[in-house]
Amino acid sequence: MKFVVTGGAGFIGSHLVEYLIKQNHDVIIVDNLHSGKIKNLDTVKDKIDFFEIDIRNFSALKNLVKGVDGIFHQAALTVVQESYVKEKEYYDVNVIGTENILKLAKEFGIKVVFASSSSVYGNPKKIPISEDADRKPLNPYGLTKLEDEYLAERYSKMGVEIIGLRYFNVYGLGQNDAYAGVITKFLKNIKMRKPPIINGDGTQVRDFISVQDVAEANLLAMKHAQKNLFLNVGTGKATTILDLTDMIIRSSGLKLHPIFAPSLEGDVKTSQADIELVTKLFGWKPKVNLADWLNQTIPKMMTSD
Ligand SMILES: NC(=O)c1ccc[n+]([C@@H]2O[C@H](COP(=O)([O-])OP(=O)(O)OC[C@H]3O[C@@H](n4cnc5c(N)ncnc54)[C@H](O)[C@@H]3O)[C@@H](O)[C@H]2O)c1
Repeated sequence: MKFVVTGGAGFIGSHLVEYLIKQNHDVIIVDNLHSGKIKNLDTVKDKIDFFEIDIRNFSALKNLVKGVDGIFHQAALTVVQESYVKEKEYYDVNVIGTENILKLAKEFGIKVVFASSSSVYGNPKKIPISEDADRKPLNPYGLTKLEDEYLAERYSKMGVEIIGLRYFNVYGLGQNDAYAGVITKFLKNIKMRKPPIINGDGTQVRDFISVQDVAEANLLAMKHAQKNLFLNVGTGKATTILDLTDMIIRSSGLKLHPIFAPSLEGDVKTSQADIELVTKLFGWKPKVNLADWLNQTIPKMMTSD
């Protein structure tokens, strides 16, 4: 099948592209290289069509999507802290850009699987968080993702097939340093033999999901007959930042103690997915275990340049 991946040069997008190519699909990538990098696509560069296009540019997108079987929409501005100072830009890219994708999907009858986020939940009342929990984002980035979900609800009523995947904390190789999540930041310090810096007291709970598992969930969502729903994509397992720090330091074999820094604005306290629904619908279960991944990745990373 032939798919468009927006944000395909980014962290999650590039892993998804690799996965789709391995499954023998044709892939067209749309990315303006805001945070994405062409080098993320090195392993598949001869097998893809890449277009440096901004998702806010409706007419440029229109020429590309005709005749494709589905759109995986990953492109977005993704940094919570930055979303406070660039609220309008976040709205334009994440909401108007998403509406462009949905308009095209409607015009050409194309299914869309798009990246929503656990940030739509804010601080949940009940843990683990199921899909029917209240949506009360704590920060402008999360609000743009909620707006995307409202748009998805509106367009699905107009007949567009849409599945929104609410990713929890995604980890893996290839995350841009400037836009990195906590695991990438900690690993960067460890590589320099420096201690991880914890924002807050480290008791925050996160559900860390591997980017490979996220890629697999995307393709299952695209192929699934079920339409028009939002699904959690996490592991269902709770890890505190203190647990994570311990695991990382242990895997490094270094004698380090974390440094504590002030909490970040808009940081949720607890995030842990209930994955019963996605497991039931897709038969999908995360395959990668965080501790195993850290044990394999950290020693290799420390000896590479
Ligand atoms: N990484 C996570 O833990 C996580 C969690 C929840 C949701 N998400 C969502 O997953 C998606 C992918 O995130 P990521 O972590 O890979 O981030 P990323 O920054 O690595 O990837 C985003 C990609 O979108 C591209 N992009 C940005 N603005 C664009 C524009 N105007 N036009 C075209 N391309 C544009 C960037 O260049 C980049 O390649 C995003 O929608 C993000 O909100 C990520």
